[in-house]
Amino acid sequence: MKKKVLYTAILAIIFALALAMGSLANVPPPPVNQFIGIPDGVFNNLTVADCEACHTNPSIVKPGTIPDRHHLLVGTPVKCPSAAPNDICPTPSNYECLTCHTLDCSTGTCVFLQFKHACLTCHTQVAGEASVHHLTTKAQNEDCKACHGPIDNPDDGHYIPTYSKTMITPKTGIGNGGDDSANPTGHTGQGGCVFCHNAGTDTSTGANIQVYNNADTHHGTGLGATAGQTVTCGLCHEDGTGVLDIRICEKCHGVKSLHNIQKDSPNPANAGSIVVGQENAYYGHIGNNSDCNGCHLNSSLSTGGLEIGAVIPEISDLSTYSVYKGVNTTITIIGSALTSTSQFSSDVVLTDNDGFDITLTPSTITESSMEVNIPAYIAEGNYDLRVVKNCISTDCVNGSYTSNSVNLSVIPQVVITSAQCSNGVVTITGSGFSQHVDGVDVDSGTSVTMPGKAKGKNKTTTNTCAVNTWSDTQITADCGTCNGSVTVNSVFGSDEANFVHSGNGSKGSKGTKGTKGNK
Ligand code: HEC
Ligand code: HEC
Ligand code: HEC
Ligand code: HEC
Ligand code: HEC
Ligand code: HEC
Ligand code: HEC
Ligand code: HEC
Repeated sequence: MKKKVLYTAILAIIFALALAMGSLANVPPPPVNQFIGIPDGVFNNLTVADCEACHTNPSIVKPGTIPDRHHLLVGTPVKCPSAAPNDICPTPSNYECLTCHTLDCSTGTCVFLQFKHACLTCHTQVAGEASVHHLTTKAQNEDCKACHGPIDNPDDGHYIPTYSKTMITPKTGIGNGGDDSANPTGHTGQGGCVFCHNAGTDTSTGANIQVYNNADTHHGTGLGATAGQTVTCGLCHEDGTGVLDIRICEKCHGVKSLHNIQKDSPNPANAGSIVVGQENAYYGHIGNNSDCNGCHLNSSLSTGGLEIGAVIPEISDLSTYSVYKGVNTTITIIGSALTSTSQFSSDVVLTDNDGFDITLTPSTITESSMEVNIPAYIAEGNYDLRVVKNCISTDCVNGSYTSNSVNLSVIPQVVITSAQCSNGVVTITGSGFSQHVDGVDVDSGTSVTMPGKAKGKNKTTTNTCAVNTWSDTQITADCGTCNGSVTVNSVFGSDEANFVHSGNGSKGSKGTKGTKGNK
């Protein structure tokens, strides 16, 4: 996800060229290339511009996605602790407009206090402390997989060896081996993560990215570093003080995930496809015997019986990040390792706000892209979208491999099904109306209006009807007339419909009112 998320589309094109030519890759490392996962950086001092670079970059997300992602929460239960300025934790009810927006009437005209480009007023970020992402309930519950792809979750029951460690057991830092005889790199230290993962400047994406060492990237999350968190240093260190033991690292970097991290290399023999052991060295963990040696020191390892080769799938982009409820929409997922060999194929899993999963089967799938239909029946809301890769043949070792997560918003369409009018009061039925705040004079984003005539020939204006009641499916409003048409403006869009005169209420007087227009 990093390349699309952090850099512009132009950089992404440079990246594609760089991969094709292989000239910009960091081979040999360190630092390693920055193709997979979140960049190996330190982000605990994020600015609004950083938030928007990932969350509103036009190449990934429509700018509208940020308001939509918030507005889809209206009517759902507040999750405590909450970023909302007007939340009611610890006894929460549902999100409403005024949970987040504050009404300011101090000038005599009531408006919402503005917070455009001000994420941090709500999502508090203390410089040097855990970032917003790592203070979430998910992170504090050690559900790192909720966002990160190329790891295992601490409590998912994955295999961690218990046999005695040997010389080929990887070290957390630098190993004690000599240089790689097959691919001499001029540096030593095989047998540990730092042989490849260390600080430096990455140029693989075509931009210069500062890469930090492993202590900095992990400590930079702020996890366990301040009081009030449920996680402690013990999440990554043996006795919580910083004692290093690879078997503790294996809580997240288990054999299963480590043996399945690989990017396609520009090896012409198998370009466009990842083949275990047949790639150029240093594009991952299992592409080449030199990669095995980077961790294990010893070159005579065999892959027999190991869960090697599934390769954890990675999502880098979606063709759209929001779809309409009630409409079948086919979206394209761009990524890598979506399939591999004939043994593994992927489904798409959407997880809703309550943690309920919906599994969708793609209509087409290749290693780098898949198409999937988001069915009309999917309810509105924000979904975590992941690719889950499963063994589909009988000759592979068990296992499913889950990608990073990206957000897909299912947005209601604003639809008026009827606008019954009687004595100037209209009852509008439909869907997607969300909520409305009484008493906001400007910029509330939600209103009932009708076209009116202004002074002078052919000049039109918009008249606002007084809202009496407003729910997601029904609005009553006093328009003062039953002539013409009415428009509902909701946070999700607007729809217009002609008035239908209801019952026997269509007396002449209304018509008269109508021709006068209201106000
Ligand atoms: C490096 C890219 C990146 C940056 C920078 C970034 N985000 Fe995120 N953010 C993500 C990803 C990836 C996710 C997980 C997928 C998703 O929910 O979109 C996420 C998720 C979130 C979530 C949802 C958390 C949950 O409980 O699921 C919030 C809230 C959030 N980000 C706020 C912010 C704010 C505020 C900032 C700026 C201080 C920011 N982000 C900066 C990439 C980023
Ligand atoms: C969970 C918090 C939250 C809730 C609940 C919420 N909003 Fe918002 N609203 C936001 C955020 C965040 C933005 C966008 C700020 C930005 O673009 O930087 C926004 C933007 C807006 C805008 C500006 C127009 C736009 O699209 O950028 C309007 C108008 C608005 N909201 C009205 C409402 C109304 C009406 C409700 C109730 C139906 C509501 N909001 C509920 C958080 C919320
Ligand atoms: C007015 C307060 C407010 C502002 C400003 C605000 N947010 Fe939020 N945001 C919230 C609340 C409240 C939630 C719901 C979670 C919670 O209660 O903490 C939320 C949720 C989110 C989510 C997760 C939504 C989901 O459930 O998938 C993301 C992502 C996010 N915010 C990003 C941003 C970014 C980026 C900005 C700046 C452009 C921003 N927010 C500005 C209050 C705000
Ligand atoms: C809500 C989504 C989310 C969750 C949950 C989450 N992270 Fe992150 N993580 C991010 C995002 C986004 C970044 C980059 C921006 C930042 O650091 O806030 C990041 C950055 C990191 C980095 C530095 C980048 C790198 O590649 O080295 C590490 C290490 C990390 N997270 C570890 C963890 C661990 C450990 C957990 C579980 C205890 C966890 N994260 C849970 C979203 C998340
Ligand atoms: C998310 C995982 C994670 C957490 C939480 C964490 N560390 Fe670390 N720590 C690491 C990694 C990774 C290294 C680098 C190991 C290496 O290179 O050999 C490291 C290295 C260290 C070192 C060795 C010296 C150095 O900086 O390289 C010390 C001491 C240390 N950590 C102490 C702590 C303490 C104290 C805490 C709690 C405040 C903590 N760590 C929390 C992952 C973590
Ligand atoms: C032989 C070199 C080498 C060694 C040794 C090595 N890695 Fe990697 N690792 C790579 C390469 C190359 C990538 C792909 C980087 C990219 O393109 O993003 C990678 C990717 C990763 C990723 C994926 C996400 C990310 O943030 O880059 C994780 C997690 C990871 N390695 C963990 C480890 C751990 C833990 C160790 C030590 C047990 C280790 N690696 C040792 C070369 C190595
Ligand atoms: C609680 C989970 C967790 C533990 C324990 C953990 N890590 Fe990580 N590690 C992560 C996450 C999450 C990432 C970032 C993956 C991504 O890019 O999305 C990461 C990334 C890495 C990477 C790839 C480079 C980078 O910084 O992104 C290396 C190397 C690494 N970890 C080494 C270690 C070592 C050594 C230890 C033990 C001292 C350790 N980790 C313990 C979660 C963990
Ligand atoms: C990123 C580091 C890394 C790379 C690269 C790597 N491994 Fe491993 N491997 C590990 C770790 C960690 C273990 C568990 C060691 C322990 O805890 O004693 C392991 C365990 C093993 C074992 C013991 C199996 C078991 O079930 O415990 C074998 C065999 C093995 N690896 C073979 C390979 C081969 C072959 C390659 C290259 C295709 C390779 N490894 C690449 C990290 C790596």
